[in-house]
Amino acid sequence: MSHKIALLAGDGIGPEVMREGVKVLKAVQDKFGLSLDLIPYPCGGQYYLDNGEEWPKEAFESCKASDAILLGAVGIPEARLPNGDLAGAGVLFGLRFGLDLYANVRPTKLYEGVRHKIHDGFANVWKPGSVDFVVIRENTEGLYTPARGFLRRGGIEELAVDSRIITRKGSERVIRFAFELAKHRHGAPKDGKHRVTCIDKSNVTAGCQLFRRVYDEVAAGYPGIERDYAYIDAFTQWMIRNPEFYDVGVTTNTFGDIATDLAAVLQGGMGMAAGGNIGDQHAMFEPIHGSAPKYAGQDKVNPTAMILAVQMMLDWLGDRKGVPALRDAAAAVESAVARVLKEGKHLTYDLGGSAKCSEAGDAVVRAL
Ligand code: IPM
Ligand code: MG
Repeated sequence: MSHKIALLAGDGIGPEVMREGVKVLKAVQDKFGLSLDLIPYPCGGQYYLDNGEEWPKEAFESCKASDAILLGAVGIPEARLPNGDLAGAGVLFGLRFGLDLYANVRPTKLYEGVRHKIHDGFANVWKPGSVDFVVIRENTEGLYTPARGFLRRGGIEELAVDSRIITRKGSERVIRFAFELAKHRHGAPKDGKHRVTCIDKSNVTAGCQLFRRVYDEVAAGYPGIERDYAYIDAFTQWMIRNPEFYDVGVTTNTFGDIATDLAAVLQGGMGMAAGGNIGDQHAMFEPIHGSAPKYAGQDKVNPTAMILAVQMMLDWLGDRKGVPALRDAAAAVESAVARVLKEGKHLTYDLGGSAKCSEAGDAVVRAL
């Protein structure tokens, strides 16, 4: 059985980290006897500047027809659509909305050997093993619903509005996703309890009141999983102070966007943070760091986030298609990453090392 994987390298450091992701995919293909059909498509802000569109017309349909999608990053500051939006973001949102990828799964895990940067230097405030939670961010509504615009432009009367749409259906499915995930995890590091934290702002917004009500309804069907509630503002500090308490969190779109960048600090930074955009039929995986144009072309950035995105993709695909070799490959990729980090000989600058992006990727391939 062959598995078709669409590769969207995109802009900035996207192509560099994609190269390392592909190296790892080719290595597991040989090791686990998999047949992976890797199909690259150009896309992004630079592609828009060169071609007047954010990706080739057939790319969306091809992504839809593939078994999984891997994305590098999209967007460069100088590429803007006529309405001022960042060119390339249409690829990201085209996939998230167009393929109904409603659960944005963002694990935060601190691996042994990773010293996180919290001020000028490196520190070890959090212990590996005490940071291992996942935030599920709703990915198709909230503030990201394209119900927005300028009602008046220019002058002192200028007025812009963004509508934050929260629906029962959108909430229900992502909350259920979080509980299903919690069922299969090992519980919170602190006490081993399976726990789903509802992260919202239900003390103020109507949308969050709906979200929390639906959370309670869904939670009733999972008596073995502890309920937990946090307002988003308080959550940001609890997450940093007591990360070991958290197992799975579920939240609305923008809160999840912000909380997960902050959460990345607990795991060594954005270079370590991978995410999956998962729906019932399709899924796209990506490092969550973005295109970082100032580092582009230097072979410098940390490819770990991309390699962990590959790991998540293999795991999801293995589950979906019922192919144990894919899941074994995913587990092997994670062990290889963990080994390289623990050895500490091939760390990129963001982790205090001096390895190039390609050297860090090579090290994972050797560990495999
Ligand atoms: C993310 C990013 C995107 C988002 C941007 C690039 C539009 O920040 O994936 O978290 O806001 O979702
Ligand atoms: Mg973000």
